[in-house]
Parts: sequence; structure tokens; C-alpha cells
Amino acid sequence: MASIITIPLSKAMVFFLLLFFFSVPSSSASREPFACDPTDKTTRGLPFCRTSLPIQERVKDLIGRLALQEKVRLLVNNAAAVTRLGIKGYEWWSEALHGVSNVGPGSKFGGDFPGATSFPQVITTAASFNASLWEAIGRVVSDEARAMYNGGVAGLTYWSPNVNIFRDPRWGRGQETPGEDPVVVGTYAASYVKGLQGNDGNRLKVAACCKHFTAYDLDNWNGVDRFHFNAKVSKQDIEDTFDVPFRMCVKEGKVASVMCSYNQVNGVPTCADPNLLKKTVRGKWRLDGYIVSDCDSVGVFYDTQHYTTTPEEAAADAIKAGLDLDCGPFLAVHSENAVKRGLLNEVDISNALSNTLTVQMRLGMFDGEPSAQPYGNLGSKDVCTPAHQELAHEAAIQGIVLLKNQGPSLPLSARRHRTVAVIGPNSDANVTMIGNYAGVACAYTTPLQGISRYTRTIHQQGCADVDCKGDQLFNAAIDAARQADATVLVMGLDQSIEAEFRDRAGLLLPGRQQELVSKVAAASKGPIILVLMSGGPIDVSFAKNDRRISGILWAGYPGQAGGAAVADVLFGKSNPGGKLPMTWYPQDYISNLPMTAMDMRSSPSKNYPGRTYRFYKGPVVYPFGYGLSYSKFVHSIAEAPTVFSVPIDGHRKAQNTSTISNKAIRVTHTRCNRLSLGLHVDVKNVGSRDGSHTLLVFSTPPTENGHWAPLKQLVAFQKVRVAAGSQQRVRISIHVCKYLSVVDRSGIRRLPMGEHNIHIGDARHSVSLQAATLGVIKS
Ligand SMILES: *[C@@H]1O[C@H](CO)[C@@H](O)[C@H](O)[C@H]1NC(C)=O
Ligand SMILES: *[C@@H]1O[C@H](CO)[C@@H](O)[C@H](O)[C@H]1NC(C)=O
Ligand SMILES: *[C@@H]1O[C@H](CO)[C@@H](O)[C@H](O)[C@H]1NC(C)=O
Repeated sequence: MASIITIPLSKAMVFFLLLFFFSVPSSSASREPFACDPTDKTTRGLPFCRTSLPIQERVKDLIGRLALQEKVRLLVNNAAAVTRLGIKGYEWWSEALHGVSNVGPGSKFGGDFPGATSFPQVITTAASFNASLWEAIGRVVSDEARAMYNGGVAGLTYWSPNVNIFRDPRWGRGQETPGEDPVVVGTYAASYVKGLQGNDGNRLKVAACCKHFTAYDLDNWNGVDRFHFNAKVSKQDIEDTFDVPFRMCVKEGKVASVMCSYNQVNGVPTCADPNLLKKTVRGKWRLDGYIVSDCDSVGVFYDTQHYTTTPEEAAADAIKAGLDLDCGPFLAVHSENAVKRGLLNEVDISNALSNTLTVQMRLGMFDGEPSAQPYGNLGSKDVCTPAHQELAHEAAIQGIVLLKNQGPSLPLSARRHRTVAVIGPNSDANVTMIGNYAGVACAYTTPLQGISRYTRTIHQQGCADVDCKGDQLFNAAIDAARQADATVLVMGLDQSIEAEFRDRAGLLLPGRQQELVSKVAAASKGPIILVLMSGGPIDVSFAKNDRRISGILWAGYPGQAGGAAVADVLFGKSNPGGKLPMTWYPQDYISNLPMTAMDMRSSPSKNYPGRTYRFYKGPVVYPFGYGLSYSKFVHSIAEAPTVFSVPIDGHRKAQNTSTISNKAIRVTHTRCNRLSLGLHVDVKNVGSRDGSHTLLVFSTPPTENGHWAPLKQLVAFQKVRVAAGSQQRVRISIHVCKYLSVVDRSGIRRLPMGEHNIHIGDARHSVSLQAATLGVIKS
């Protein structure tokens, strides 16, 4: 998103855009006008304003009153007012990736709303592996969003979260995602969306949006950008990787919107592909909501990709494919002519509007007096509250990952480490901590400020910025380390290295950062702790292997309270429990791997390494799921079946249980809708500190189907708090067909019979799936 400015627009479109922006009702302290105002005699009796009628009828009534010219002006993010019906203009584009953001034009800070709670960037929050935290953050963000809407400074439609798979470690937007595992990403999507949208039946607190559908995850690499990229994706990878988060977002999260992306998939722009939009998202997954384009996607596939010869064809293709709303002016400009030229029927436009208007009605935007509605009482007093800011702090603590703790030298102690040298380009970072798609934070606690709450600090930047081109500041940093009892180096990346439209060239620390760390480490008398801020993984093999560097923490982009959280972990007030949501590859991994190569599976004959822990088995710096604690947890499997029988639909031909014992049966031929495998796992905290621990449950399918199957895949995860010296029994339930299935080359999901190996840390268990025929066998 945010690309409107980067795309060449025709003069007519620029004029239109300006018209759009100037027609936005300016926010003022005075009361905002609203649709279906009960004091408005011309509209109050109309059926679309009657809350007693079913929404479907109200939408139909409203559409029936609109002329074609009015309809096309509602197909775009800056929807025009229909003054004669009392309907105000509406800006659809707001963002709330990890807090209410001002990236979209629909939300602005200022006046009574100077800022909003800025949670950690999503990759950090993902590292908590705590689904209830994800939902809790969504609830807070939507409270603040509603408060800002009531104050007239924000919309109710938020184009968040980003649930693309973090497929390549260089991706500049990897930071926005919950990582590389489809099930983690899908669970995050469903949880965050539920938090945002609320739990009030059909009514929406705010409308969320899962984006960018699909196979996007490349911004600008080696001369290929997202506006020109044609992702060549196999049916197999679509089914078991790229579709998973979106399917979970729609089916489990009940999201109110899905956004199609800029790129093409197998030669068709996603926003013009009826197979993706109409057939899959709306048909198979039953989206109850609207499909929106990425900003100017329709313009991009016409102007940049030359996918159609006329703009009217582009407009018609998009709407007929299932697009309901255009971010950008294209559909408002060209849809009417598309109808006049017979490329599109007016009813197609009405169908699109029916999807957007239904969402607006579910949000209560046609229910009259806003203050009398649910959430109508939320206001500026509900933004940046101490409780909200404390949750941002808590989220950062839960997301910090301890990667190395030799000695152990952590936690530090304020008593022994009376002076700490705090060094590095991110040591006093503020806005860097909130990453991209952020807003204006309520306040910041930088790492330096956080550490200063515990002990005396000596501060040195070491590098002027994360680029770290020169060594002018090295000596002062080395001197500081010499004098101090311990040294904390806060290094890493920021948006100048990884961002939207900016993929990374390599995986190492930028410039001379590594040299600074090693020189400081050689000079320091006390323990050296390296704290990394970044969205993507960094190859820090040098620090992992350097015995002088005793601790490494990854803080991601930890949000407004990030520095406080880092300090709490460093000084042991909090016990770290985060785990990496993505593989940390060595720099070598990318040397012969184009970002444009979409295959997930490795191909040894082509020297292709495969992607993510599910398919790549080469060396890593730190693996997916890695993360230490100040305590130690051991698992044992208390109870689990060794044989599990899967009912097979007897009406299928030749399903003789003894001949299919080694086969992978189509999931659609099994009766396993609610079939789940239950495990009881004991987790014991054998250390001396209380802590939270995530059980990551992986499964390796039978090897007979090795060419389809991942090396292993995450089938469940659960976080538990265990007090020092005590034990907890955790019940884990694995949905057999969803998670133990594999996908064949034709994209068909199958359940392999035979031994599945379940592993949780060092605990192993093997369960044999066996087919049990039901009903009549016809062969
Ligand atoms: C962030 O830090 C910079 C550099 O110290 C400072 O100039 C700026 O005012 C800070 N911004 C905020 C919002 O605190
Ligand atoms: C199932 O297959 C086995 C082995 O091929 C065969 O002996 C048996 O008769 C078959 N049963 C049915 C019901 O077809
Ligand atoms: C998960 O997050 C919630 C919300 O912060 C917290 O109350 C809970 O303790 C966390 N769970 C674990 C096991 O740490």
C-alpha cells in the first residue's frame, strides 16, 4: 500500500484524486454529520435507515435508490457523499497493523487524539506464540479506533493484518507478518481479527482486512518490483502454504475483508482473477464482507502490466472477478463507461456495492445517532490509557527472544553491574522501535532509558546510524565498554534497510556494525550483551561463535515500550519466553536464490535449497521456534494414542483398508471433520525462575510420501506459565485432517496412513493412522 504516489497517473486521474482529497469532510471539534440522522426528515423514514429491518433488505433498498453515476463513485476508497440521501463521504482506507496508524488517509492524529498505543511490530508479537495476547491487542486497538472514529478523526475499516508468508528473509515487509509458518500466521490472523472485529454476532466493532492475497511477498529486488512481478506458484504450494493464512482468516477469523495484491499469480493479476476472488475467497471460503484492491492495483494492472488494452476492460475484469472496492480512483473513473460499452452490467456494480454497504451497515454507519450505539461512549479518555500502554509493554516482553546466554551471564544484576555501557545505533531508538505501518505513539521508552531505570549508564552511539559507514565513533564506544561493568550493544536494522518497497540485499549487519561489536567485545571487561532490533533475520554467526559475547537478544521492533521491556529482560525482572517465528539463515543461503523463485520445496538437482523450516534442511544460524529462557523446561508425553483410526467414506470405490494402509487418502474421502487427536503433555519447570513456555508441536508425516511432505510441520502450539519447580499438564488437540494432512503435486490434500512422528522439544511420540472403512464398499 501507500503506493499511490509512486505510480504514474494520468492527468485526469490526478485531477480526480485531488477532487477526492478536497471533498473529504474536514474533521473538526464540532459534531460530525451522520447518515440516517433522526432529525433529517427526508431520510429518517426510509427503509435503509430502519434498524428493525434485516441488513440485506436495507442494503437492497439503498442500492435501489442510487443512479449509476452515484454507484460508481462508491466503488473507491474515497467514497463520495450522496447528499440527497443524507449519506456523507467515507474514506475506507485506514490502517491498524499494530495500533491505530496514520498511514492511510482515513485516520489522523492531532487535537484530542495526539497519538495511540503503538504495540510491537507484528513479527515481534508473533514471537510470543500467545494467541490470547494477539486477540487482546486487537481488542485494545479497536477500542482506540472506535474512540477516534467517535471523535471524527478515524474510519472503521482497517486494512490490517498483513498475513502473507514470510517466505524470503530479505523481504522488506516481512516485519509486518507473523512469520514463515502458515498455521502460526493463520492463527495470528484469526485471533487479531477477532480482537478487532469484536464478538457481537453480526455486528462489527471495526472491520479488519487480511492482505495481500496472494503469493505477494516481494517488494523490490534486483530490478523486479511488486507492480511487475508475476509469481509462478504451483497448486501444491498454493494449497499448503499461500492459501492457509487467508483461509483461516476468512473461515475462522470471519474477517470482513480481503485485499488482493499488486502482483500476478501465474500470469493473471490477482485483482482480476475470478478463480482467486469469486471462486475461492467468496465461493469456497464464504467471505462475508468485501474484497478491496491494494492501492491502485487496478491502475497497475492496466498501466504497468498492460493486462488489458483499455481501461474500461480493466475495470470490467476487476469487478467481474469479484472486486468490490478499489483503493484508488480507477473504478470511479472507468466503470460507468465499461457499462456503457457493454463490458459490464450495472448489476455487477450493484453486487459489489452490496458487499461494501453490508459491511458499513454491520458497523452501524446507517443506524443514526453514533453516541447511542454500542462503543458510542468511547472517546479520547480511552486512548493511550495506562492499561493499554501496559499491554504494549507486556507484548514486547513476551516477544523478546533470548538467543544466547553463555555462562549464563544473563540476567544482569543492578548490584554487580553498577555501570553499564549502552552502545549502538539503536541504543536510544524511539520511532525505530515501532517499525512500519505505525502511528504516533503515546510515548516511548528507549533501551537507554529502560536500562537507566536499573543502573548507571554510559551512552555511546558507536555508529552514527544503522548504516554505520564510518568508524569515527568507535573509540569512544570502546572506552565506554572498558570503564563499565557490563556492555549492552543495541544494533540491527531500521526502515532505511528493510521497508515497504525496500528488500534487503543481504542478511548481515549493515556497514561496519559487526566490526564495532567485535572491537567493543575485545575491550570490555564485563559481560557483552548484543541486542538486535530488526524485522528480518540477521546472520549473526560471528556473535554466536564469539566467546566474548555472552548474550544475544532479538527484540524485533518492540513498540513504544520496547526499551523498558528489553531492560526488564536484561535485568531479570521478566523471564524471556519468545521463540523465533522465522528461520535465521546464514548469508550463504541467499547467494544463489532469486527472491522471485516461489517454490517452497527444495530441488537438490537444481541446487535449490527450499524455503522455511518446513522444506529447507541446510545449516541455519538459529532455527524456527528457537528461544531460550532463564529457566529450563522439560516435556514428557503423559497420554497419547499410538493408533488412530480414520473413518473412510465407504461409498468411494475400492477403498479396501488393507490395500490403502500405506496410502495417502484424499481428505475429502475421509470423515474427519471433527476428528482430533488428543495429547496430554507434562511440562516441568526444572529451573529456579517462574516462566512462560511455548509448546511447539511438530509432526513428521510417514516417509512413503516424502516427495510431497514437508520435513516437519507445526501442528499445534500452546503457551503455558509454569512456576519454578512445578509441573503443568497441557492438553493439546490436533485437528487430524487440517494438520496431519499433506498436499500432493496436483494440490490435493491427502491424509497419509501410517506412522506420524510427533515431536515436542525432545519428547517424541509416534502415532499410526489407520483407515477404517464405513458403510457399503463398492469396488
Ligand atoms: C526520537 O529521537 C530523536 C533523536 O534522539 C529525537 O530527535 C526525536 O525528537 C525523538 N522523537 C520522539 C518522538 O521522541
Ligand atoms: C482387500 O484386499 C485384500 C488383499 O489384497 C484381499 O485379500 C481382500 O479380499 C480384499 N477385501 C475386499 C473386501 O475387497
Ligand atoms: C498470554 O498473554 C496474555 C495477555 O498478555 C497473558 O495474560 C498470559 O499470561 C499470556 N500467557 C502465557 C502463558 O504467558
